Amino acid sequence: MIYKNLSINDAGHLVFAGHDTASLAAAYGTPLLVMDEELIRSRCRAYKAAMEQYLPAGSHPLYASKALSMKRIYEIMREEGMGVDVVSVGELYTAAKAGFPMENAYFHGNSKTDRDIALAMDHGIGYFVCDNADELDAINAEAGRRGIRQKLLLRLTPGIDPHTHEKINTGRIDSKFGAAIETGQAEELILRALGKENVELCGYHCHIGSQIFDPTPFCDAAVLMLKFVAEIKEKHGFCAPVVNLGGGMGVPYVAGDSAIDYAANIKAIGELIAGICKDFGLEAPAILMEPGRSIVADAGMTLYTAASIKKIPGFKNYVAIDGGMTDNPRYTLYQSSYTILPASRMNDYGEQLWTVAGCCCESGDLIQEDVCLPEMRRGDLLAVLTTGAYNYSMASNYNRVSRPPIVMLGENGPYIAVRRETLDDLLSCDL
Ligand code: LLP
Repeated sequence: MIYKNLSINDAGHLVFAGHDTASLAAAYGTPLLVMDEELIRSRCRAYKAAMEQYLPAGSHPLYASKALSMKRIYEIMREEGMGVDVVSVGELYTAAKAGFPMENAYFHGNSKTDRDIALAMDHGIGYFVCDNADELDAINAEAGRRGIRQKLLLRLTPGIDPHTHEKINTGRIDSKFGAAIETGQAEELILRALGKENVELCGYHCHIGSQIFDPTPFCDAAVLMLKFVAEIKEKHGFCAPVVNLGGGMGVPYVAGDSAIDYAANIKAIGELIAGICKDFGLEAPAILMEPGRSIVADAGMTLYTAASIKKIPGFKNYVAIDGGMTDNPRYTLYQSSYTILPASRMNDYGEQLWTVAGCCCESGDLIQEDVCLPEMRRGDLLAVLTTGAYNYSMASNYNRVSRPPIVMLGENGPYIAVRRETLDDLLSCDL
């Protein structure tokens, strides 16, 4: 077992966070997304503690809620004292409706409309993470109309390619996000922001990528951003009080993926920052980080029921399930690896390779290929691990398939945080 919260009971069933998965499936139906609430909370506490210990005063994590957005997650984030990053008015509205303190929310996105900007201000958004000059002008204008001074960070691209671990001169300059440091556009955007009456420039943001295991690119980004803070201070007298380093720390999905030591990474980043601040005589900015996946991914598990079995001798064995790319599009989109277990038959020997196929009318709708499982039978329960991030949040109603419910495994037992979509829900916008 790659996770601490998994075991097998006497009935040969997979147990997740202390709950028999077969009983959960019987009680709530499948497909079903179950989440280990304590694990989510412990990840928040670990990030908070490490950032408080190793980073400059005022440093703290924001949960990147694109990984999993629902009212309950914002309540948990409020209770854990986390900030949040929202990336659309949909996420922003969900957070507000959940009673999240919006002064601790950061509004991302590269394409905010005037309506988005106004709605965010209606809800008292704490910070915009402003992506470009057009957006900056629009925020300034709207803040002016309201007679407020809107706080914001500017999104910059430091030109780091996390997958080659090299600083590539042209790397990521062509990103749709932010203003590149290397081209001088970041500096232009800063000067433009400093010249605006109705915005308060609080600092800079960068995000170098997702599912990164090597600490080197994070350290490179921190160094680059801090040197840039020093350069702008030197040239223009503005010393950014906040630097947001984004999210991206990796999560293991299958045996063999390395586990990442978040606290050790944060410590390494903290040491570099302290060194640079000393060298350049800078007052250390507060550091923000935006973990999404590493807060919720392995706290989630999806349970499916096998609906049909198809063997094509000499070619493939298919087990088709009652969900698919509608609740987990990540294999279809990115060929992402997942660990899949025969949750109702954990003691049966897996001697064959199976393709786990979804229910959609599309041959690419697969959850995983070449999974070692016992002889599959209709009605078997399958558990796909590590589905807490970017599954529910990327789910769709393709083929008019309903989205599964989310059941939280909380301190006082399981409870439904998001109910299953009904067939009538699917018609709710049709006039
Ligand atoms: N901050 C910003 C500005 C981001 O764009 C992202 C992720 C995060 C934070 C959180 O990154 P994390 O800690 O979760 O890696 N749909 C893809 C992932 C896209 C991530 C986009 N941005 C997937 O399923 O793998």
